[in-house]
Amino acid sequence: MTGIKKVAICGAGGTMGAGIAIVAARGGYETVCFDMSADALARQRAAADKFFGKSVDKGRMSAEDKEATMARMSDSTDLNELADCDLIIEAIFEDLGVKKELFGKLNEICKPETIFASNTSTLSITEIAGGSGRDDRVVGMHFCLPAQVMKLIEMSRGINTSDETFQTAWAWTESCKQIPVETQDKPGFILNALLVPFNNDVIRAIEAGLCTPEDLDLAIKSGLGYKMGPCTLLDLIGLDTQVRLGEAFYPITLDKRAAVPPLCRRMVAAGRLGNKSGSGLLTGLTSEKATEAPGYAIVGTGESRSFPAGDAFLSGGAEGAPVTVHLGGGFAPDDSKTAVLVELDTECLGVHTGEDLGREGSNVVGFARYRNGNDAPSNLIELVKQPNTTPEALAAARAVFEVAGFDVVVCADQPGRIIDRLVRPKYNDALRFLDEGLATAEDMDKTCCMGLGYPDGPLERVQRGGLARHYDVTTVLQEMTGQPGYAPARAAVVAKARG
Ligand SMILES: NC(=O)c1ccc[n+]([C@@H]2O[C@H](COP(=O)([O-])OP(=O)(O)OC[C@H]3O[C@@H](n4cnc5c(N)ncnc54)[C@H](O)[C@@H]3O)[C@@H](O)[C@H]2O)c1
Repeated sequence: MTGIKKVAICGAGGTMGAGIAIVAARGGYETVCFDMSADALARQRAAADKFFGKSVDKGRMSAEDKEATMARMSDSTDLNELADCDLIIEAIFEDLGVKKELFGKLNEICKPETIFASNTSTLSITEIAGGSGRDDRVVGMHFCLPAQVMKLIEMSRGINTSDETFQTAWAWTESCKQIPVETQDKPGFILNALLVPFNNDVIRAIEAGLCTPEDLDLAIKSGLGYKMGPCTLLDLIGLDTQVRLGEAFYPITLDKRAAVPPLCRRMVAAGRLGNKSGSGLLTGLTSEKATEAPGYAIVGTGESRSFPAGDAFLSGGAEGAPVTVHLGGGFAPDDSKTAVLVELDTECLGVHTGEDLGREGSNVVGFARYRNGNDAPSNLIELVKQPNTTPEALAAARAVFEVAGFDVVVCADQPGRIIDRLVRPKYNDALRFLDEGLATAEDMDKTCCMGLGYPDGPLERVQRGGLARHYDVTTVLQEMTGQPGYAPARAAVVAKARG
């Protein structure tokens, strides 16, 4: 029993508030939908009616339940009507002053025991509570978009939040069949703290000419099993929102990866915000998968991470074929071939071919099949080209792997290729957050799986792949890039030291 009967959602006409109001009413609570815009409330009511209508169509709810749920929702633009609410959840504009002012006014109006919850993404619960006159009864309650569909809620205490308040708010979320996780009151909690710098890294990789946005998405989906590619997600979130998130995060964290990437600002200036403006990062250009490929000959000079013993690809080779596939890192130039493929580990292709200030170029193409530690190799082949790699060699390499059934992406000869470049800093962040007590490992992983659609959480994944391997990869990346985000986290250093 939470003792909560009547709930108000402030900003109920907005994106998040509208969904939270549905959660509260569906949970059986009398729900006051409050917004300063009556038009927004009218739109919210129509959207709720449509949402519950679909629930009835799908057999998730009876028509009577729908009527009763809609009847539990009332609209208001008068703050005084919130006086007798037991819980007030604010999802108004992301502005500390505006949120503090709202809680300050509500403090005058509401009964003493009313709990105030904030859905802020980036602001401090302690600071928001500072303006409330009841900072022991303020709690962080961060829903995911769309709130009426996503079950996860990140719950956090301000410094003065009482245990009773936290437990009551927690129990209320569970009574609405949501799944709460506890996180400290730190910028971005778990989800955005991991996502905002990662998304910035994605934009920086595009800006650096690493690969196309389409190939980047394919790599992440195929290699890591994420449900949605990061460029698709950024276009959905909106690049203007990503700018705002970076602007909110960087001054608080001073994490270079959180700073807004210049390309993101230029895209916004050009009106390319993502789905809402009709164009964003994704170009819409994808290449057809090859249906025919030249033959390939395998030259094994060492153990292969891409194709371990018994892999079907190994049996497809034919001596004297126009494409040569060197496994295990060795390589011999051969100008008579259409393409000479060199398996890479953490090294750049230039280590094998030599570099000639960008004038290098040949029939040599690097490749690696992405693999997390000793997990079974994924279906992703990252092809690596140099500035003047011939289009014929690249096309032959692509065809060989595509016809063998792999997902193929092409990237420049930059450190970490696509996957390691993007995912390793995120693993470091998760390991450091764990050290700093942001949340439990289980809750961090659960947040990523439930909130972002990852098949497994970053902590589970980096541990399964081997912390010593993480040390090896990140050490090379840090050496090549000089970026602090690659400095191996403490747990990886310990694992390496222990052999
Ligand atoms: N959009 C997301 O993906 C997302 C996810 C999680 C949390 N959040 C957080 O939720 C909050 C709302 O974000 P949003 O994207 O729904 O914004 P939004 O702009 O869609 O909605 C905000 C609503 O609040 C109303 N409003 C603003 N100031 C008000 C006031 N003083 N009194 C009453 N109503 C007021 C506006 O009229 C509007 O309807 C922010 O704190 C944001 O950080 C957003």
